[in-house]
Amino acid sequence: MTVYTHGHHESVLRSHRWRTAENSAAYLLPHLGPGDSLLDVGAGPGTISADLAQRVGQVTATEVGDNELALSRATVHERGVTNVEFAVADVHNLSFPDDSFDVTHAHQVLQHVGDPVQALREMARVTRPGGIVAARDSDYHAFCWWPRLPELDEWMRLYQAAARANGGEPDAGRRMLSWARAAGLTEVTASSSTWCFATPEDREWWGGMWSDRILESVMAQQLVDTGLATSAELRRISAAWRAWVEAEDGWFSILHGEILCRKPARTH
Ligand SMILES: C[S@@+](CC[C@H](N)C(=O)[O-])C[C@H]1O[C@@H](n2cnc3c(N)ncnc32)[C@H](O)[C@@H]1O
Repeated sequence: MTVYTHGHHESVLRSHRWRTAENSAAYLLPHLGPGDSLLDVGAGPGTISADLAQRVGQVTATEVGDNELALSRATVHERGVTNVEFAVADVHNLSFPDDSFDVTHAHQVLQHVGDPVQALREMARVTRPGGIVAARDSDYHAFCWWPRLPELDEWMRLYQAAARANGGEPDAGRRMLSWARAAGLTEVTASSSTWCFATPEDREWWGGMWSDRILESVMAQQLVDTGLATSAELRRISAAWRAWVEAEDGWFSILHGEILCRKPARTH
């Protein structure tokens, strides 16, 4: 079984709640229609699900357990969005009949699962013929930033180790096309897009979040418990994130891989 590396600490949710359909699913938006049914797997805090619901007829948001699903539900209800249903489901084994949805979508989920190819097979199974399977994931080794603080290199090394120990693939972005092909999807458009944090506000938000997250999230606990890092090292990394926030020339770019797959229409 894979463990979700980030957990759902407030410092993690702060990052995920910033996400919108525009900044995280732009590659999919031109393909959505007002009558579409859309499955959003691994909805997390549900901000993207709530946005997508404004553009389609019906969204089904899923999460791995009731506690995680409560986070998705809270955002959707807070925003007064009424066309979202909720279900507990593991993307490896979705509890929906074949051909149930016009669109299936996963944002930053495949990097955390044990078998991303099986996940895509399941997403394709529940998508109707002619429908769309869409997924986007970041690629940690492709992140780049300035200034080059050695502690941020250490942060990257530790993150990669923790994510892999949990059965995930932090460099998922570059592998999306390959995973789609392995899942039997033949009509695939692959693309990439980035997030960039360079203004004082963005730096405060992104670097401040990681400064907290490296000390307080389940990943921090995992790093200490497994002996990958000491609390003192994590404190140094946290301080380096604060130094990055304060740097007037601080810049950070996050590459994502995206796949938009058309499920073949039936020919008979
Ligand atoms: C990085 S969060 C992304 C949340 C949301 N899609 C977003 O981008 O804001 C990844 C989510 O995937 C969920 N997840 C992890 N393993 C999963 C699995 N096997 N099936 C479905 N969801 C899973 C986690 O619970 C977590 O909420």
